[in-house]
Amino acid sequence: MSEDITKIISDGILAPSGENCQPWRFTVEGNKVYIFNIPEADQSLYNYDQKGSYVAHGALIENMVISASKFGYETKIELFPKQEPNLVAILTLEKKSIKGDQLSTYLDKRHTNRKEYSTEKLSKEQKNELISTAEATGFGSLKIIDDEKLITSISGALAVNEKIIFENKELHNFFYSHILWNEEDQYKAGGFYIKTLEFFPHQLKGVKLFKNWAILKILNKLAKVSQMIVKDNIARYEKSGALAVVMIDSNDNKSYVNAGRLAERVWLKATELGLSIHPCTGVLFLMENIKNGNQKVFINKHQEIIKKAYRDITDTFAVQNKTIPMLFRIGYGEPPTATAIRMKPTIENR
Ligand SMILES: Cc1cc2nc3c(=O)[nH]c(=O)nc-3n(C[C@H](O)[C@H](O)[C@H](O)COP(=O)(O)O)c2cc1C
Repeated sequence: MSEDITKIISDGILAPSGENCQPWRFTVEGNKVYIFNIPEADQSLYNYDQKGSYVAHGALIENMVISASKFGYETKIELFPKQEPNLVAILTLEKKSIKGDQLSTYLDKRHTNRKEYSTEKLSKEQKNELISTAEATGFGSLKIIDDEKLITSISGALAVNEKIIFENKELHNFFYSHILWNEEDQYKAGGFYIKTLEFFPHQLKGVKLFKNWAILKILNKLAKVSQMIVKDNIARYEKSGALAVVMIDSNDNKSYVNAGRLAERVWLKATELGLSIHPCTGVLFLMENIKNGNQKVFINKHQEIIKKAYRDITDTFAVQNKTIPMLFRIGYGEPPTATAIRMKPTIENR
């Protein structure tokens, strides 16, 4: 059992997390796995009230459920059982004669692909498969748009994220403190390995230079650097076969975890279908600050820009009275230049 649990956790942590911060640790007692959030792993403006990390925990739990099925275990899940601080879930594994989930094949094949995609559309069958994969979870739904005009009209809203990164000191510092410049650094800390960010060659020199906030501030004034970065990213976002949002009815912590479970199943399904995925959630999670009274972290001009971008997204997807915990680009892309590696997880016995 304990060997199986180690394997199930190893499959679990292949899950995506914001900035690859991997905000989880585990304790094991018999057939029970206690999953804890590590709030210090991501204190960024993207993670207001740890909502982004809860989506990551949902993806982690879904991976573990899928992996457990492969070893013949059924998983019972208790979310936020309130026994201990930061305890997100207790998973209880029971040996049953159940069928392994076919998505288990794709756990180690799912990656973020930030490259430009071809504008080739998804087939009707592919779209239906993704939508029904989401629906089958019972946690929410997936809405896809693939009209070129709509994708173009919303690409500017997605690139507001990069505008704020290169114009807001706190976000800029957070972003740069999470860039890992060498592949081996990924074994020591969470963060983005530079090659996974798929900067264009002409951007790379600048990216190193803009690490210095004082220099960037001057260059933003003199050479409109942030505007140039936004322009490049709009072009990238326009090159997507489709955009999709996950929609849920509530915005409590459990719903965010369940949205992460849904998003992970959709992502694994897309991987099975040969499609690439790139989450573009910046505006959605920055908006959480504004919705919850933490707007002062942005200058007034940025508050208005974020609000407008958020409105553009909800209008384009015709989302009413729902929460959007995830937004993806989907399409056909060349394989990513590099893929993210995971740190060894902390697993303790209780
Ligand atoms: C809640 C959440 C939000 C994310 N938002 C973004 C995003 O806005 N932009 C982006 O490039 N990647 C985003 N990602 C992807 C992560 O950066 C990625 O999963 C992580 O770096 C690990 O890489 P992998 O997905 O290839 O395993 C997000 C992931 C999660 C779970």
